[in-house]
Amino acid sequence: VKDVGILAMDMYFPSTCVQQEALEAHDGASKGKYTIGLGQECMAFCTEVEDVISMSLTAVTSLLKKYQVDPKQIGRLEVGTETVIDKSKSIKTWLMQLFEECGNTDIEGVDSTNACYGGTAALFNCVNWVESSSWDGRYGLVICTDSAVYAEGPARPTGGAAAIAMLIGPNAPISFESKLRGTHMAHVYDFYKPDLASEYPVVDGKLSQTCYLMALDSCYKRYCSKFEKFEGKQFSISDADYFVFHSPYNKLVQKSFARLYFNDFLRNSSSLEKDAREKLEPFSNLTGDESYQSRDHEKVSQQVAKPLYDSKVQPSTLLPKQIGNMYTASLYAAFASVIHNKNNTLVGQRIVMFSYGSGLSSTMFSFKLQDGQHPFSLSNMASILNVSEKLERRHVFSPEKFVETMKLMEHRYGAKDFETSQDTSLLSPGTFYLVKVDSMYRRFYAQK
Ligand code: ACO
Repeated sequence: VKDVGILAMDMYFPSTCVQQEALEAHDGASKGKYTIGLGQECMAFCTEVEDVISMSLTAVTSLLKKYQVDPKQIGRLEVGTETVIDKSKSIKTWLMQLFEECGNTDIEGVDSTNACYGGTAALFNCVNWVESSSWDGRYGLVICTDSAVYAEGPARPTGGAAAIAMLIGPNAPISFESKLRGTHMAHVYDFYKPDLASEYPVVDGKLSQTCYLMALDSCYKRYCSKFEKFEGKQFSISDADYFVFHSPYNKLVQKSFARLYFNDFLRNSSSLEKDAREKLEPFSNLTGDESYQSRDHEKVSQQVAKPLYDSKVQPSTLLPKQIGNMYTASLYAAFASVIHNKNNTLVGQRIVMFSYGSGLSSTMFSFKLQDGQHPFSLSNMASILNVSEKLERRHVFSPEKFVETMKLMEHRYGAKDFETSQDTSLLSPGTFYLVKVDSMYRRFYAQK
């Protein structure tokens, strides 16, 4: 098999959202903190009729229908998520309903969990399956589904929600450069969910930022050395057309690209302009630790990297800025933004991806893009993703109504024996929604 990768993609996110500018004012934060400081514009969230199961049912149904894929053609289904609804029953089993109807129960795979990294683990599992001797010729299907919510406080504006579905197989327009992977995994307590009675994480915000950037440096070094080993030349940011990052909030993405730029400077890469080199020179002797703490270093790196950020990163930022952190779906929503913005110029290009999940797990890997054959072409993917229209038809809630929704969700988390309002007026046709949870905690969904 050749060119194993992503054949098709679809995405669902709740139509309910809150503007960061309004939230900032409501929270009493200084003006610009969420919009400029964090770099975010809007945040999507689930109301009481939606959750990670309904979102994933919606995304899978939509992908199969729009690309006309027969459910019998799926041989592996993997879910990446960190939103726990049940500690034993996987979300994958929920999705089986869609396949049982067609008589297909022969589908491998379950859920993968490690913060925002689960989607990447699920994706690697499917790609590895297609490349392996146990592959039976059918497609793999990966779903990343999460609802990111935080308790009141500084992390609250970094929530979000979405589900992404990706069809995996050979001869893909988005194929993996399987040999080029750099991974960094370690034990840290930066963001975790030890309180099973609450949907909210425990988070050490500052530590999580530093862990993210350290993991990025480590993965980049490993990616570069793999590249040198297999391609016989030094890698620098000029060797990729786009860099796509896991995006908890946009400011961290700006800082991340600046770090890669600084790495290229330290590696004496010939791709850096003389002017940039001179500006970074004063920081060349910082120790690793100092470089994560130095504000001057951060600002200067961001400033010299800005022109390349605009061309190589900015096209990936649309959905993460508009929706917020989608945890496992965040990296792939950023990638979908590139497909949306650049689908007709991507052929032959390389896209580098950085996946990070607290705790921590991280990998840098890359895709090579080709035209693909209808329906599995980049242009068809862009029209099915239909990003502009989905963003335009959203319903903006006031911060008060958002907070009220969060309170209701806290109350409902882990509860049994209740019915939802079943108010589907804000849902588009085809969307799945939660109807009730019975006295045995069994959940019931319907489709609008
Ligand atoms: N105008 C413009 N910028 C402002 C303003 C303002 N009025 N006020 C603050 N800022 C800037 C700050 O200078 C800072 O930017 P900088 O880092 O470039 O200096 C930025 O806004 C954020 O301000 P902080 O004071 O650092 O924010 P705070 O500590 O209150 O919260 C944090 C930010 C830590 C990201 C918090 O939202 C959080 O904990 N989020 C969840 C954790 C997270 O997402 N971690 C990322 C990796 S792990 C994961 O994916 C879950």
